Amino acid sequence: MKKILFFMVLAVVSQIVSAQQQTDAATERKIDKIIEQLTLKEKVSMCHAQSKFSSPGVPRLGIPEIWMSDGPHGVRGEINWDNWGYAGWTNDSITAFPALTALAASFNPELAYEYGFALGEEARYRKKEILLGPGVNIYRTPMNGRNFEYMGEDPYLASKMVVPYIKGVQKNGVAACVKHYALNNQEKWRGHINVKVDDRTLHEIYLPAFKAAVQEGDVWALMGAYNKYDGQHATTNKVLMNDILKGDWGFDGVVVSDWGSAHDTDESALNGLDIEMGSWTNGLTASRDFAYDEYYLANAFYNKLKSGEIDESVVDDKVRRILRLMFRTNMNPERPMGRMNNKEHHDIARKVAAEGIVLLKNEDNFFPIDPEKGITIAVIGENATKQMTIGGGSSELKAQYEISPLKGIQNRFTNATILHSMGYASGPSTYGRVVPSTLNQDSLHQAAVETARKADIVLFIGGLNKNHHQDCEGGDRLSFNLPYNQNKLLQDVTEANPNTGVILVSGNAVAMPWLKDIKGLMQAWYLGSDAGYALADVISGDVNPSGKLPFSFPVKLDDNAAHHFGELSYPGDSTNQYYKEGILVGYRWHDTKNIKPLFPFGYGLSYTTFEYRDLTTDQKSYTQTDKITLTFSLKNTGNTGGAEVAQLYVSDPKSSVMRPAKELKGFKKVFLQAGESTKVSITVPVNSFAFYSEEEQNWVVEPGKFNLLVNSSSADNQLSQIITVNQ
Ligand code: BGC
Repeated sequence: MKKILFFMVLAVVSQIVSAQQQTDAATERKIDKIIEQLTLKEKVSMCHAQSKFSSPGVPRLGIPEIWMSDGPHGVRGEINWDNWGYAGWTNDSITAFPALTALAASFNPELAYEYGFALGEEARYRKKEILLGPGVNIYRTPMNGRNFEYMGEDPYLASKMVVPYIKGVQKNGVAACVKHYALNNQEKWRGHINVKVDDRTLHEIYLPAFKAAVQEGDVWALMGAYNKYDGQHATTNKVLMNDILKGDWGFDGVVVSDWGSAHDTDESALNGLDIEMGSWTNGLTASRDFAYDEYYLANAFYNKLKSGEIDESVVDDKVRRILRLMFRTNMNPERPMGRMNNKEHHDIARKVAAEGIVLLKNEDNFFPIDPEKGITIAVIGENATKQMTIGGGSSELKAQYEISPLKGIQNRFTNATILHSMGYASGPSTYGRVVPSTLNQDSLHQAAVETARKADIVLFIGGLNKNHHQDCEGGDRLSFNLPYNQNKLLQDVTEANPNTGVILVSGNAVAMPWLKDIKGLMQAWYLGSDAGYALADVISGDVNPSGKLPFSFPVKLDDNAAHHFGELSYPGDSTNQYYKEGILVGYRWHDTKNIKPLFPFGYGLSYTTFEYRDLTTDQKSYTQTDKITLTFSLKNTGNTGGAEVAQLYVSDPKSSVMRPAKELKGFKKVFLQAGESTKVSITVPVNSFAFYSEEEQNWVVEPGKFNLLVNSSSADNQLSQIITVNQ
């Protein structure tokens, strides 16, 4: 089969031009003028931190400081100047937006824009130049403690959701900072593990969302990751930073280190790092005058520049990027003012939360539960009341308020009698260590089973939480099972009352040995300020669930590709790890290897039903530069309004290289009233069918037949059509 080569050079040149269009020539000339006036010391000072979350300006010339804040789903509380303690401000409580797994599960890019815009407004109000998010590391293993901060297992979905998020944030004159570039797909040994991954996998799975952030989202900042790639730390990695990010992709923004991810002056200077943050030095405990001077991009860098060992053009490029970011943010006189904690933000948080909830099981129409009924509902499980904006590491928030699931249910089900029993207790969310609860677990367990017995309906609200070794930065999960003896508790609760539904609060898949014993199941994520209201919206049927899973739920851990290949694949031998599954991540693995997941990627039920019919394509055969437009009709065949996410997968049955059984290439979320039908069109460029050829070091589409699959989940095909791609 003859290969069609895409001329990357051409593509790259046009992308660089478009990135540069943002910053007009006049600004570049202003930057030239400023650089001329800066002393070498001043230039170097701009390239490293002056406090935990800021880098210095140049007061002599009125150049402002840069202030940064975590994080991906809300603006974090103010941190002390020189250590990780909270500063104790009284004006930094914010709106907590749902974590990014929830946003991804909405499959709604317009909502991602609204989310980004609202979050950006809060960051602006809090006077931040850089918001340290979003995170788009790919969900490779359910053990990764930080999956909840990311957008799932599929590079196409993550790309489509991250671009509008970035545009929304940056509309406020606040830089988004996409992170953690790249391959930081586990927390265990994150500071030093060397990821061995083939080029095809790197380009097809782990880089696309970053590439989209840069080339389509025009992101102004990017954070390097802690881990190593190809034997070199990712943050100062020549291939990742110079060759790919700043070379091939034409990134014109600022590379910020992760906090403490720079390790060497030459590498930091020469391999693309622009602002070094969070290195080991700490001005207080190190008892030095200004320990930030000892950063790799501080005095050591200055000395090398002064002696001529490193050319001054190296620091000039960093300063140019930093000033460009300033002209886009705090040196932009047109910058809007921002808002915080306003009703619109709360409404968006609630909308994303409700749209992100995924209904996974609904035997005998367990959900929705009619709020008019005077029934007794037992709400069981610690996650009914545990605060989930607290903990989890750097994404933890100081929310102005957080509505718990219990409160949301009590508020909506006023006709019902609500009983509540914790069932288990996890202890406080303490970073880096587990502090067990001192409550008597047996008593909690017993009391919960007794409570279940007394009710008409049980809502078990459990799952993971933001404690160490759960959904939390700095460590991975230790077990695929639910923690805190919840499997046993669920067994006993369902025996006491089979009319049980589970609401799983987590950012990760878990084992579900109890699935057959429960009637209903909702995947609820970390839903932010209005968590309880949003949950009650969906439980009551005020909102019809329309979320779809952004990652596969395997039956058992070994069914996940990374785990299938044993310890060298995950977590590695502490020095190296090998991504042995290559491109077969998530549903690509399950489908290609015929390993049935418990719940597939893209899956999610509704309180209504949809019918797909009459797929047509605008042509039957295409060239590699064409776009394909598919059209089909979608009907809401149930009794209630609702939304369906129609998903387009493409499969290449005959190829010179192994290809996954199918890959997501398009989707559309469509809202339909009961009985309503509509024509849905999805347009997809033929060149998105390309694979990354290691031989050509480039993207290649092979002519031939492709099967277009219109699905309601990765595992549920509704319509299909074969088309031909010609040379
Ligand atoms: C995390 C980043 C975060 C930074 C600042 C690091 O430990 O990996 O995601 O932005 O800390 O808090």
